Amino acid sequence: MNERRDAVLREMGLAPLWRLRGRSQARQADEPEAVPEEPAAARPSATKAGEVSMRERQASHQPQPAPVPQPAPVAVAQSADSMDERAGRIETLDWEALEADIRACTACRLCERRRQAVPGVGDRLADWMFVGEGPGAEEDLRGEPFVGVAGKLLDAMLAAIGLKRGEGVYIANAVKCRPPHNRTPGNDEIEACAPYLARQIALVQPRLLVALGRPAARALLGVDVAIGAARGQVFRYRGTPVVVTYHPAYLLRNQRDKAKVWEDLCFARELMEKTTPA
Ligand code: URA
Repeated sequence: MNERRDAVLREMGLAPLWRLRGRSQARQADEPEAVPEEPAAARPSATKAGEVSMRERQASHQPQPAPVPQPAPVAVAQSADSMDERAGRIETLDWEALEADIRACTACRLCERRRQAVPGVGDRLADWMFVGEGPGAEEDLRGEPFVGVAGKLLDAMLAAIGLKRGEGVYIANAVKCRPPHNRTPGNDEIEACAPYLARQIALVQPRLLVALGRPAARALLGVDVAIGAARGQVFRYRGTPVVVTYHPAYLLRNQRDKAKVWEDLCFARELMEKTTPA
């Protein structure tokens, strides 16, 4: 297992920083421990299964606001009523109807330039749910999230903590249609897509949500957070714990932060071990 994991990390160019150290006696053979190369992010001090500290609870109400440039408002504006109606309708959909609805969606301008909408992929009864930003060119072509270069890195990240796409893991995006030129989705686009993400989460009922990057954090927390400030904290999405980390595409451009992502993944795994299965 370790050899395989090391090989995956090496192949992705991650091995040098994402080194695993020797295990404590109490650990299982395939449970890695992180050796952060930088000081650990402020970590929550979970006291017992499913509990988070006061600091975390406060943190969940105090994400760090940070301004993000936004594209112009959506051309096809919907009234608040019709948005509520739409959200109410989406709340009732089963998987098949939900995916069909996503594929036919025209609620925001992203529908205009997409090849196809990209609903999500993986285990529909997963404990882990990873939320990305939005489809890129490859995903738009293939109809599956994270199948491009960032996706390969995500797979390696999953492997590093003993996870595999589709096995106890569901992957979705904040927006289901590719933003032109891979621009960051606007808050209005994230909001238009929010009922879909909400329904996916309600159907999967994951024990833990991992937000990959700022738009994903925005989609789950409803406010802008700076990833650097938010990592190492436990937030909540309708009661489900949420942790945030950098997006794999960011990591490809900022390899020096890979140790931080490794820390965040270990933190997420520790948190998962403390949560009680439903
Ligand atoms: N980046 C994302 O955020 N999602 C994808 O599906 C692909 C790249």
